[in-house]
Amino acid sequence: MGTEEQGGQKQAGTVAPATGKLGVMVVGLGAVATTMIAGVEAVRRGLAKPIGSLTQMGTIRLGKRTENKSPKIKDFVPLADLNDIVFTGWDIFEDNVYEAAAHAAVLEKETLLQLKPYLETIKPLPAVFDQYYVKRLNGTHIKAGKNKRDLAEQVRADIQAFKKTVDRVVMIWCASTEIFIEPTAVHQSVEAFEKGLEENDIAIAPSQIYAYAALTEGVPFANGAPNLTVDFPAMVELSKRNAAPVCGKDFKTGQTLMKTVLAPAFKARMLGVSGWFSTNILGNRDGEVLDDPQSFKTKEESKLGSLDYIFQPELYPDLYKDLYHKIRINYYPPRGDEKEAWDNIDIFGWMGYPMQIKVNFLCRDSILAAPIALDLVLFMDLAKRSPELRSKGIQEWLSFYLKSPQSAPGLYPEHDLFIQLMKLKNTLRHIMGSDLITHLGLEYYD
Ligand SMILES: NC(=O)c1ccc[n+]([C@@H]2O[C@H](COP(=O)([O-])OP(=O)(O)OC[C@H]3O[C@@H](n4cnc5c(N)ncnc54)[C@H](O)[C@@H]3O)[C@@H](O)[C@H]2O)c1
Repeated sequence: MGTEEQGGQKQAGTVAPATGKLGVMVVGLGAVATTMIAGVEAVRRGLAKPIGSLTQMGTIRLGKRTENKSPKIKDFVPLADLNDIVFTGWDIFEDNVYEAAAHAAVLEKETLLQLKPYLETIKPLPAVFDQYYVKRLNGTHIKAGKNKRDLAEQVRADIQAFKKTVDRVVMIWCASTEIFIEPTAVHQSVEAFEKGLEENDIAIAPSQIYAYAALTEGVPFANGAPNLTVDFPAMVELSKRNAAPVCGKDFKTGQTLMKTVLAPAFKARMLGVSGWFSTNILGNRDGEVLDDPQSFKTKEESKLGSLDYIFQPELYPDLYKDLYHKIRINYYPPRGDEKEAWDNIDIFGWMGYPMQIKVNFLCRDSILAAPIALDLVLFMDLAKRSPELRSKGIQEWLSFYLKSPQSAPGLYPEHDLFIQLMKLKNTLRHIMGSDLITHLGLEYYD
């Protein structure tokens, strides 16, 4: 055991080093993906700093506070170096990453021009797509196959070909939000899922086909969107079987980030909340896709979860049982990627007296999401190299990044950002054989 402020067992650090090239396969080369790729290249060339990325800028305290030992996370755990990342991906449009980034209009023209020679070398592979699952899109750069099994095999072939050019591979979904799908019998086991692929089961969306191909190839899969993709028993089984980590879904970027910071503060002070109204305007392609009620439903479900779990109304009925939580997303083209979010929060304090809080977040969606996508890629690759983590299936310690964390069956997901961060850092300490930090700290007063 460690000192009183620390706790936990010492383990030998046995994580394999990050030698060679890390291949990153991105599904969907839209606003988020191109902003991530352009940003990584800008950092590599010394044109920008990786702001917003915990893996690149964050530190981790080791030992007692008096030891003053806080290395950078990337110097403590063996993460892939940004110079060793090789990107590829799929999209339903043929635009290369330069053209797609210019279309997304997140980054300034001059910045993109500086990066153009590199960005235009990344050309998307033809995608697995069916408009039934994303009503507002109609792509042209699409794979044809005799059934969903055949399409999965084609994605596996793409992965196998890419594997020949790099040392390790990770896949991340940065594609559009699919319609709301509830798990059915086909999702309950790998056998049922494979039969479903053969029979073109309607409950198997394209995102599931990519994920199935990745996990079958032993490739970790992260999901930046709220679709039902790896959060069902068949995928968790496949993930464990093939030591291919999965994690929760839907990047936690703007409004939900704020929610999972503010709600724990109210609960910590035992302040009640009677209403939380959240509305957004955004004008990018994501906004257009979410304008379809079925894609919006997928997003809404993902956004709604956090407050219920944080407030635990069953434990605090006087404070949170009657909370009215409403979320709106409005497609408003003039704003492009520069989303604006408003929250009106009705709270109450001592003797029930009401108060209000207004939050107005003028954010940039893809600027917030890009470093999250990068961190997920790097940490999923780390998990794959950790003998302790790689066969666990769900990487709950990555909940920090996601609106809908995934957890073991019967275990409620943790949404509080600060608990999530503690869990993430303690997981890193644990896999590296360092003492965990519990923040008890009585020994300083002996
Ligand atoms: N930006 C954020 O803050 C944020 C936060 C949470 C989640 N997300 C999610 O991330 C995803 C990406 O967001 P974005 O702003 O980059 O959207 P986007 O519309 O700019 O990009 C999505 C890309 O995916 C492509 N695509 C769609 N279906 C595909 C398929 N089956 N295969 C391959 N490509 C496909 C589209 O052609 C498009 O280029 C969305 O689902 C969004 O909801 C974004």
